[in-house]
Amino acid sequence: VSDMLVDSFGRLHTYLRISLTERCNLRCQYCMPSDGVELTPGPELLSKDEIVRLANLFVRCGINKIRLTGGEPSIRKDIEEICLQLSGLKGLKTLAMTTNGITLARKLPKLRECGLTSVNISLDTLVPAKFEFMTRRKGHEKVIDSINAAVDLGYNPVKVNCVVMRGFNEDEICNFVELTRDKPINIRFIEFMPFDGNVWNVKKLVSYSEMLERVVKQFPGLKRLKHEPTDTAKNFQIEGHHGSVSFITSMTEHFCAGCNRLRLLADGNLKVCLFGSSEVIVSNVCPP
Ligand code: GTP
Ligand code: 5AD
Ligand code: SF4
Repeated sequence: VSDMLVDSFGRLHTYLRISLTERCNLRCQYCMPSDGVELTPGPELLSKDEIVRLANLFVRCGINKIRLTGGEPSIRKDIEEICLQLSGLKGLKTLAMTTNGITLARKLPKLRECGLTSVNISLDTLVPAKFEFMTRRKGHEKVIDSINAAVDLGYNPVKVNCVVMRGFNEDEICNFVELTRDKPINIRFIEFMPFDGNVWNVKKLVSYSEMLERVVKQFPGLKRLKHEPTDTAKNFQIEGHHGSVSFITSMTEHFCAGCNRLRLLADGNLKVCLFGSSEVIVSNVCPP
C-alpha cells in the first residue's frame, strides 16, 4: 500500500484526468477568447509514448480510472492509438473521455474498439442558434448525432454535461430532463465556475437548489439515488425514466473531502486540485 497515492489529507487518488491537448474545435465563450489563444508549443506537449509511460506508472500506484480531457481530446491524431495502449494497462478499469461531441459520431465506433469505456459529452443548449452563439461555431446537429451514436453503441449511461448559465439556458433545464425519458442518458447540470478570465459573474450562477426546484416542479417523481463519497455529482432519477439527472455543485456544495482525482496537463504538469495552485494557471481549456 505504501506506493498508493495518498495525499496529506488522507485522500486516496484512484482517478487520473489527462489533458491530451489544449486545442479545441469550438470557442465556447466561457472558456476561450474568440481568437489568439495562447497554446503550449507542440514539442512541449506530452507525446503518446510519454502519456502511456506516465499512465502506466500511475496505474501501478493504484489509479484505476483515466479520463481523457482537453481542450478537445478527440482531435489528437493519435487518439485511437492512445486509447488502445491505455486500455491495455493492467489494473485500469475505466477509460473515459470528456468531449464536445463535434467529431465523435464518426470516431466513436473505432474508439470503442480501442477500449474507450465511457463518454461524457458537453452540450449546453438544445437550440442550434444558441449553440452557435455560445460556441462561436456551427455543429449542434453533430453533437446530437454523437449523443445518439453513443447510445446506439451501447454506452450506458451516456453522460451529457450542461453548464447552466443565467439568461442563457436555465429555461431549458426541463427540456434536457426530457432526454432521460426514453434513453440511457445521464444529464448533468453543472454550476458555472470561475476560471482565469472566463467572464464568470456571480449573477450568471444558477445554484443547485434553484435548478432542483425547477426540475421538481415539473417532475415531482424525482428521487435521489445512492451517493458515493467520491462522486462529484448528486444523482437523481425520475420514476419511469430510463436515464438519470445529476447536479454538479462545484460552487454551492464543495466535494473536496471526497475528491480522488489527479490531473495531468497537456504539457506534463501535474495539478492536484482544479481550483488549487499549481505551476500552471488553467485557462483556455475545459476544466482538466
Ligand atoms: P465522471 O468521472 O463521469 O464523474 O466525470 P467528471 O464529472 O469527473 O468529469 P467531466 O469532465 O465530465 O466534468 C464535469 C464537470 O465536473 C466539469 O464542469 C468539471 O469542471 C467538474 N469537475 C470535475 N472534476 C472536478 C473537481 O475535482 N472539482 C470541481 N470543483 N469540479 C470538478
Ligand atoms: N464552469 C463549469 N463547467 C465548465 N466547463 C467548461 N468551463 C466551465 C465552467 N466555467 C465544462 C465543459 C465540459 C466540462 C469538462 O467542463 O462544458 O462539459
Ligand atoms: Fe472547447 Fe470545452 Fe472549451 Fe468549449 S469548453 S471551447 S468545448 S475546451
